Amino acid sequence: MLLAMVIRDARIEDWPAIWSFFQPIVEAGETYCYPRDLSSGEAKARWLAPPPSRSVVALDASGVAGTARMYPNQSGPGSHVASASFMVDPSRAGTGIGRMLGEYVLERARASGFRAMQFNAVVETNAPAVALWRSLGFEILATVPEAFAHPRVGDVGLHVMYRRL
Ligand SMILES: CC(C)(COP(=O)(O)OP(=O)(O)OC[C@H]1O[C@@H](n2cnc3c(N)ncnc32)[C@H](O)[C@@H]1OP(=O)(O)O)[C@@H](O)C(=O)NCCC(=O)NCCS
Repeated sequence: MLLAMVIRDARIEDWPAIWSFFQPIVEAGETYCYPRDLSSGEAKARWLAPPPSRSVVALDASGVAGTARMYPNQSGPGSHVASASFMVDPSRAGTGIGRMLGEYVLERARASGFRAMQFNAVVETNAPAVALWRSLGFEILATVPEAFAHPRVGDVGLHVMYRRL
């Protein structure tokens, strides 16, 4: 199914396609510490931020199927640890796009000289994400208790997940 999938750097003209699934994911309020009413302009400024942030899209024959963003987790003396964020079109979730983007981002971060990758806020109820990051070699360093107000479940923990590159 993923034979024709290509990953390339995101372009400004990709934004409408990214926003078509970014918006419902954020509005659902179950996976990201973003305001649920984040505007398209605010989201675009975050997601397509200038270097050292890098954004990519995963494309198949029907267009943008997913996107990822990687960036230094901290500045200055903390800038050798990367972080990253991911969104896959929910209509295509579970088909391997997230894994492909995760493997790509890990390799690109390694090739760019980052020595580790850290996810600061993985919602503990986000089972697909937690399973995917574990299978890509991340461990849960700690869980900040009751740090995320889940709209259906109530306050749940945020995992800090980490792996060396
Ligand atoms: C999390 C997300 C990026 C995963 O992308 P995806 O394309 O659906 O994932 P994949 O199809 O590559 O699946 C990868 C792994 O996730 C896990 N997974 C997928 N769906 C799952 C589910 N419903 N329950 C449990 N684990 C699941 C499996 O371990 C799977 O491994 P496999 O390859 O052995 O089957 C995607 O669901 C998404 O964008 N979610 C909303 C935003 C989000 O949560 N971003 C990450 C924030 S940390």
